[in-house]
Amino acid sequence: MKLAGKTVVVSGGASGLGEGAVRYLLRAHDARVLVLDHNAQAGSSLAAELGAERVLFAAVDIADEAQVAAAVAQGRAHFGALHACFNFAGIVSPLRILDREGRASAGERFRRTLMVNLAGTFHVMSHCVQAMRENPPDADGERGVVVNIASGAAFDGQVGQSAYSASKAGVVGLSLPAARELAPLGIRVNAIAPGAFWTPMLQSLPAGVVDRIAADFQFPKRFGQPDEIASLCCTIVENAYLNGECIRLDGAFRLPPR
Ligand SMILES: NC(=O)c1ccc[n+]([C@@H]2O[C@H](COP(=O)([O-])OP(=O)(O)OC[C@H]3O[C@@H](n4cnc5c(N)ncnc54)[C@H](O)[C@@H]3O)[C@@H](O)[C@H]2O)c1
Repeated sequence: MKLAGKTVVVSGGASGLGEGAVRYLLRAHDARVLVLDHNAQAGSSLAAELGAERVLFAAVDIADEAQVAAAVAQGRAHFGALHACFNFAGIVSPLRILDREGRASAGERFRRTLMVNLAGTFHVMSHCVQAMRENPPDADGERGVVVNIASGAAFDGQVGQSAYSASKAGVVGLSLPAARELAPLGIRVNAIAPGAFWTPMLQSLPAGVVDRIAADFQFPKRFGQPDEIASLCCTIVENAYLNGECIRLDGAFRLPPR
């Protein structure tokens, strides 16, 4: 599917990789974007900067399905159709299974991480594909494309990442059955597992953790750049034969155990 003039839903589009994807979609493809994010201040100022005719912002907690449903319906009414969905919204949530005193006390944080990163991804994906199924098929029979953002931590989870890794492994696991279920509708679903990108999320981690990550870079010996993930998202949309796959984008970097 060619992206020019199409509408893409970008969750988490108010910051970091999602914001990079919004800017890239406008710059490289002249696409329209519905941004879903719970940071109302950052989302509104991004939409104001980029222009209401090209970017619509909706303040949404993706863990709340009713909010997602209302925002996706609003976006469809505004732009007329939704063609692709990039699921960037997520939280990093370091937690230990047992605290320093040996007590099991992290259950609530674990559940919230899964609600945002996994159930939230499902909410956005499912309401977007409900809108995509109304699109007329193109010559290949295609109606829409979903790109879910997982993480290298889905495969190489570090100590302290049990909630985050489990949620992102869920995002990987979600994508193939979704691709299979939605194939009769002409909707493709893929995932990307990023390595380390220098965004507010990574900047929120303790310096020691970030230093250990940087020490293990292979090639290129640097953090990934938002445009590198945005361009991969767009390639996935434009390459009709990519389906049901999870692509690691990490310069051969693998997370160490801690
Ligand atoms: N930065 C990295 O190195 C890296 C590596 C692997 C995976 N990822 C994944 O990429 C995605 C984007 O990460 P980032 O680094 O740009 O982080 P970020 O913190 O800069 O951006 C995340 C965005 O998601 C939004 N968000 C968080 N919870 C939300 C909720 N409940 N409802 C709606 N919006 C919510 C935030 O407000 C923010 O705008 C995340 O899913 C993250 O797990 C990032």
